[in-house]
Amino acid sequence: MKFKSQSIAWYFFVLSLVLFSLQIVYGFVMAFAHVGYDWLHPWVPFNAVRTTHINLLVVWLLSSFMGATYFLVPDECDREIHSPKLAWIQLASFALVGVVAVAGFHVGWWEGRKFLEIPRPLDYLVVINILMFLYNVGMTIWNSERTSTTVMVLYMGLFSSALLYLPGMITFDHQTVDSYFRWWVVHLWVEGVWELIMGSLLCYLLIKLTGVDREVIEKWLYIIVGLTFLSGILGTGHHYYWIGVPSYWLWVGGFFSALEPLAFLGMTIYAVSMYRKSTRIHENKIALFWTMGCAILSFVGAGFLGFAHTWPQVNIYTHGTLVTAMHGHMAFWGAYAMVNLAIMAYCLPLLTDRKLKPTMATYLGFWLSNAGMIAMTIAIGIAGITQVYLERIVGLDFLLVQKEIEVHFIGLILAASVFAVGVTLFIYDYFRYGFPREAGHA
Ligand code: HEM
Ligand code: HEM
Ligand SMILES: [Fe+2]
Repeated sequence: MKFKSQSIAWYFFVLSLVLFSLQIVYGFVMAFAHVGYDWLHPWVPFNAVRTTHINLLVVWLLSSFMGATYFLVPDECDREIHSPKLAWIQLASFALVGVVAVAGFHVGWWEGRKFLEIPRPLDYLVVINILMFLYNVGMTIWNSERTSTTVMVLYMGLFSSALLYLPGMITFDHQTVDSYFRWWVVHLWVEGVWELIMGSLLCYLLIKLTGVDREVIEKWLYIIVGLTFLSGILGTGHHYYWIGVPSYWLWVGGFFSALEPLAFLGMTIYAVSMYRKSTRIHENKIALFWTMGCAILSFVGAGFLGFAHTWPQVNIYTHGTLVTAMHGHMAFWGAYAMVNLAIMAYCLPLLTDRKLKPTMATYLGFWLSNAGMIAMTIAIGIAGITQVYLERIVGLDFLLVQKEIEVHFIGLILAASVFAVGVTLFIYDYFRYGFPREAGHA
């Protein structure tokens, strides 16, 4: 690495991988519960496991985003992080808040609004933590001689994510109003400001890995930002169909959210065309695999599978079923998990100053996790479509239908096992590189 303080990224990534592994464990617990083996129920009921699964997901992704930022900003701005000490305090306090939140879910300390379950007192600690992070990164950029479009878009994404956390912290008495603002956080994160983070990370990776001119690559980034804002903001309406707001949201939500795949398609075309233009292929091939994989699977999971249920005419049947979970898995994986794994794969040789040869485990990590996730998506998708048919068309009772679709969860467990082996190999490869050390170390 160019700057000593970049090494903090390695530790954020480690935190991320630990939480990611835990998330997978909770996924298995739920999958087994779906086939009738809910052994942990007396201690951790299904809803607590589910909440832990999805909150761990958000926390590990955020931890990776932060690690990526602490690596990328010094590189782009050509200077050390403003305060490495503050970055360490921020890492430790972030981990602590995460652990307390997860432990709390197990004893019923939560708010109960999907994805925003973290209780209010911890929300304040999250805000303080994020302010430390934004200050530290902001000062690094501010005091540097040079900066880049990539850095500015990344910072804009991080800053607006922080801002959009706040609507989830206001208390409302009315269910509709509460739901209305919950989506400002959940939707506007994943289909708005996180896309800016993802776009800028992809941009950075493509500049490094393909050798195409920065000007060409960064021009695309503007298009992505434009498409994201055009479609994503009013696209929030696809969550307003059935919550009790005026009916014009059916039209607004349907129309604008149907445009959202364009931003993801833009990212795919962008990555593929940069790859084809590449003047020299970087020696870190596996980082390129993850980058291209992200550009393609994010479109499949978010763009294609999101589009599949975004029209009110379809959503009236699929709303809140396993069809949503099918889309949620592939979208989160393709877009945000993969972009972070791409960044980790890229940073690793630089952070540790070790150019290890890729092994079978390196490539199997990529192929098995992706094949596993595709198979998981198919299994949950078939379960979801069957659920829609039996529950919403035939009119069978919810629990009766759950019994009927149990078999698909055996498929899910098999697919998830392949996925988990892939992720284990990725983690094994990460630690194969050893601890971070400076370039030209003694
Ligand atoms: C990477 C981007 C995306 C991620 C990570 C993502 C993830 C998710 C998740 C987790 C949910 C469930 C949320 C909840 O119930 O609290 C959801 C719901 C939904 N998503 Fe996405 N999504 C993404 C992009 C998209 C796009 C581009 C579209 C449309 C074109 C879309 C359409 C929908 C719809 C219609 C729902 C509501 C499903 C229901 O009614 O139950 N998503 N998404
Ligand atoms: C071993 C791997 C995994 C298994 C077995 C698993 C299983 C499950 C199950 C059974 C559910 C609950 C479905 C229900 O409502 O009944 C769930 C929810 C969810 N999982 Fe996973 N999961 C795994 C990994 C992942 C990964 C890697 C991600 C993200 C990249 C993820 C994202 C989600 C999301 C976003 C939800 C909530 C979906 C919704 O809003 O409806 N899961 N998972
Ligand atoms: Fe959405």
